[in-house]
Parts: sequence; C-alpha cells; structure tokens
Amino acid sequence: MSQIDSLLHEDRHFAPAASFRAQAVGTAELYERAAADREGFWAEQARELVHWHRPFTQVLDWTNPPFAEWFADGELNVAYNCLDRHVEAGNGARVALYWEGEPGDSRQVTYAELTDEVKRLANVLGDLGIGRGDRVAIYLPMIPEAVAAMLAVARVGAIHSVVFGGFSADSLRARIDDAGAKLVITADGGWRKGKVSPLKPAVDQALADRGSGAQETVEHVLVVKRGDNPVDWAEGRDIWWHEAVPAASADHEAQPFPAENPLFILYTSGTTGKPKGILHTSGGYLTQATFTNKVVHDIHPETDVYWCTADIGWITGHSYVTYGPLSNGASQVLYEGTPESPEPGRWWALVEKYKVSVLYTAPTAIRSFMKQGRQIPQQYDLSSIRVLGSVGEPINPEAWIWYREIIGADEAPIVDTWWQTETGAIMISALPGVTETKPGSAQVPIPGVSIDVVDESGAHVGNGNGGLLVITEPWPSMLRGIWGDPERFVETYWEKFADQGYYFAGDGARLDEDGDIWLLGRVDDVMNVSGHRLSTAEIESALVANEAVAEAAVVGASDETTGQAVVAFVIIKENYLKQHSPDGLAGTLRGWVGEQIGPIARPRDVYIVGELPKTRSGKIMRRLLRDVAEGREVGDTTTLADTAVMSVISAQVR
Ligand code: PRX
Repeated sequence: MSQIDSLLHEDRHFAPAASFRAQAVGTAELYERAAADREGFWAEQARELVHWHRPFTQVLDWTNPPFAEWFADGELNVAYNCLDRHVEAGNGARVALYWEGEPGDSRQVTYAELTDEVKRLANVLGDLGIGRGDRVAIYLPMIPEAVAAMLAVARVGAIHSVVFGGFSADSLRARIDDAGAKLVITADGGWRKGKVSPLKPAVDQALADRGSGAQETVEHVLVVKRGDNPVDWAEGRDIWWHEAVPAASADHEAQPFPAENPLFILYTSGTTGKPKGILHTSGGYLTQATFTNKVVHDIHPETDVYWCTADIGWITGHSYVTYGPLSNGASQVLYEGTPESPEPGRWWALVEKYKVSVLYTAPTAIRSFMKQGRQIPQQYDLSSIRVLGSVGEPINPEAWIWYREIIGADEAPIVDTWWQTETGAIMISALPGVTETKPGSAQVPIPGVSIDVVDESGAHVGNGNGGLLVITEPWPSMLRGIWGDPERFVETYWEKFADQGYYFAGDGARLDEDGDIWLLGRVDDVMNVSGHRLSTAEIESALVANEAVAEAAVVGASDETTGQAVVAFVIIKENYLKQHSPDGLAGTLRGWVGEQIGPIARPRDVYIVGELPKTRSGKIMRRLLRDVAEGREVGDTTTLADTAVMSVISAQVR
C-alpha cells in the first residue's frame, strides 16, 4: 500500500515553539502525574475541572469488567457544569456561541443567554413529561437550539440521541425505535448548499410508516422554525419551539444526578447491519471531554475563539462542540452550512471574521481545500490561528504539511487526535506545547490513557512493528455499553482480547522506532468515508432491499478526497432483467442508497456484475473486490470456490 509506504518514510519533526510552550495548558508534568497514579490523576482532573453537587469518594469500579463505573458515588449536573457555573462565576456576558447561518445571518449567544434558554427548555421538557432516563431524539441543523436541546435534555437527567440531519427518515426511524424515544426535537429545515433542506417531513415519515410491531413511543415533536419551509402539522403532537420555549419560566434549578446517569446514546456503524447505540454516562465522560479539550486544544477560555467544524450529529460534535468547550467556558464558532457555500472561502471568511484561534477539523476537509488551491485561504487573514486539530481518519503527511503551512502560517502546532464514538473523548494525540509532532502520526496516548499495539495473540509488537490497536486500561469517558444489547458490547469490543482484558478498537496501527503510534485504518468491514464510519453490511442490506438487486458486496476503496469511498458490486435479479433494461440502473441504485441511509452512504461507483467472489464456505472476499475497485492487480484467488470469477468481474468493471 503506497499510503503506508509513504508514512513509513516520513521523518520530519516539528518541536513546539518556546513561546507556545511557555503559555501551554498541557504540560509534561501531566504525563508524570498520570504515570505515577493513573486513577488518582483522573480523580484530580475530575475534582479540578468538574463541579460536583456531591463529591465522589470512589474513583474507578472495575469489579465487573467490561462494565466500568467512574466516580460512581458522586453527583453532578452536566448542564450546570456547561452553563450556570460560568454565569455564577461572573462570566455570563462571555459569548458561548458565535453562530453563523449559511445564508449569512448570525447570532451571538452569551453564557447567560444560553443558560436562560436551556432553563426555559428544561421547563418545557418537564411539562412534556420528560424526566430522568427518558430518551429524546434530536434531529436538528447546526443552530444554537441544537446545543441548547442537548443541554436541556442533560439538565433534566434524560438521555439524548442526536441523529445527524443528513440521515434519511428510515435511519431516523430505526434510531427512534431502538431507543424508544418519547420526544423528537427537530426543525422545519436548515440551510445546506444554498437552499433549505427540510427536516420535519423526515420526522413525519419516520413516525408515520412504522413497521409492524414497532411500538409508538413518541408523544411529541418540538419544532424549531429555521428554514421557513412549509410543514405538515399534527395537532396535539407537534409543538413550535418559538411558542413554547419563550413562554416557559426561566427559573430552573439543576438537580444533581449520579455520575453514572446515562447522558446520551449515539448510533454508529458496526460490522453487522444494525447501527449500535453507543451509551455514554455523565461524570467520567464530562471529565475526559473537558480535560482533553483543554490540554489538547490548549484552550484559554478568556481569550480563545475555538471552532470545531463537526456536526453535532457525530461524536466530535458531542464532545468538542457541546460538552468539552462549554464545560471549559470557551467561546466558539458554530456554523450551519457547508464549507463551500456560498463561496469556496467561506470557512476562511469565518476564521477572519471571528478571529478563530483554535481550529479542529477533519482530513477530508483539508484535502478538499488543497484541491481548490492555496489561493483561496490566502485571500483571508488567518493570523489569529494558533492551534490546528485533525480528527476522524489518518491524515496523510502532505495534507498535514499543507494544513500547517497554509492555514497555520507554518507555525501553528497540529494535533492529530485519534479516538472513536466509543471512547467518548480523545485518546491519542500530541499535546501542542509538549510533543514534537510528526506529520501523519497521532503519536502518544494522552496522560491517563493506556494504549498498546499487539499481535493476534495480544502480545506487544515492539517498536518498528505493526499490529492491532488496543486500550489496555479503562478510561473515564469509555462507552458503558450498547443500548439494549450488553452481549453485543462484550462481543464487539472485549472478546478478541478477553484473556488480557483489552478493549479492541478495530484499527490497525504501527509503532515507529520512537514508539509513536501511526494509525493504519480499520481492520474490519467498516469503512471510513470523510471521517464517518459506515458499515459495508448496512449498505449491502440497503442495496438488496431494492427490487432489482439479488446480491450486493460493498467495499471501501481509497479516495483522494474522502479517504475511502463506497464502491458496490451488485448482481441483478434475472426476473428484473427480463422486464427492464439495466441502463441507468447503477445511477438509480446510488440514489437509492442515499435515500435509504443518507447521502454520505451513497456509493461512488456501483458495478453490475454476474457473480461475486466467494470462498468455499460462501464468504465474500472483499479484499479481491477492493483490488478491482482500486484498479490494482487482483491478489491471491486460490481460496475462491471458483477461481475464474475474478477475471470475469474485472472484465465487467472495465
Ligand atoms: O478508524 C479510526 C478513525 O475513525 C474511527 C472512529 O470513528 P468515529 O467513531 O466515527 O469517530 C470519529 C471521530 C472521533 C476510528 O476507529 N479515526 C478517528 N480519528 C483518527 C482515526 N484514524 C486515524 N487517525 C485519527 N486521528
């Protein structure tokens, strides 16, 4: 693999500037403290960074692995930590959100204003019967109400399940049903790529055509008016936010909840078809999200303007838009739209306008900016930037260097942060004032986190070798389970290295001669498209749900911009072909997947083939299809039931 080869020969190093080091929040001492007493270190962070209504006396309870409890006898209110405490400390006038709508409208929301809004909304939730443990689905664009909704749900001790606004009605329905949501918070629509993209119709559809046996759990739909697009209205069920929230009282005292009170469920793709509801709880999650945001992004809340470009529909938006930065009392930019709307330099215009000092984004975005050319960012004043972050997939050294030179004026340290929906917060990353950075390497576990790279038997591979990435000790923001499926939780993450008690992340990695970690991508059938995880199985089931398709195999093929792209191989039903021409079918199927799951899952290519490569036991050999999709010589086919099949497929694809 050429990408790995180029990584292996990368030997540039960038030490932090003395001036940066002098002001950095994260220091080398943190590693020492954590190494001396890992649990004590996290207890210290939890006490220092989080307000506890009732202080904890226990740190980690690992008596029933892999079910961890952190700070279990402590009590806190997560929303209080993100809001009230800053107002009480005299920082109510500080801007929490510099919000920018895609069409150019903007709003500044201070901590006092956001606290007020969340208190009112918490009262509305109470009136709607939402309390501790209830599930609330949030399906919103990137507007201040999205952040407020998450915090209000947290404030009343309920559990949110944010569903990315780009997901289809089907995906939304599956998530509402799995969690048994009682309330859905949505908007009429939001702005994307120059027009209003409707959201409420998908909610209506998700709630209308429920499969047989689906229990109707949703009692109300709370609707923000944003797109001004016409919407259908279910009397008695639907409620306008702008009518209910301002009318509610702004008095609401945050009640304490136990540290292990569930905070949210977030669905993510696994190797099988059904998305997994990853469950996170309160005290440990908030501790690690706050800590990492502070030390990895080097947040100085009084002076920084931070911008994490992730949507709140992803884990990055949970930990590094809503919880981490607000718990730290930072000021941040929240942008509704896409990077290129209405003009290609939109992001850089926002950096200039708000004097963004810390920017956290994904390699796929960086690569698409590289493609447009440096002349676009160079039209803007980006001199405010002092820290750059990357997340979601390996960042290739070329993109890393471009990011540093063009966006960071050849000066800003880059933190390449490895973590997952399941880990809740950053696990591997440089500390910008401490680590000498290497382009393309996520480098070192953060203080308090224990990572190893091991072989199939669980043995440490040693420097200079590749293997599987594992987490060897429990960490505060670790997932507490898969919603409704404890067995799948154990099976998916803990069975492979059950003897050692390691968490298996599903990623391949390599240790270089210094012991620094280089991520090499997923080792299972999970793709990473633009920093988002998609499962091959999920897309295959969507394809075979189409009347034309008999069988489907999906692979992730490397792609210059998106990292990986979805490539599908499908066999068409004979009966279908008797009645229809196959012309245009590939395009139809691409669109079909987009409708079934959402546009991010839409295959780049759909190849119609006569057969799929299978082993004698009937397993599809995706490795061979990946060779075809990436235009390579097809690898070893000796284990195929029919060895001729690959030449037929290659010919059909060409
Ligand atoms: O394969 C790794 C990749 O993204 C996966 C996690 O995806 P998700 O749960 O959607 O969370 C993405 C944002 C945290 C990982 O298993 N990944 C994430 N960050 C990196 C990465 N791969 C390499 N380098 C990273 N910095």
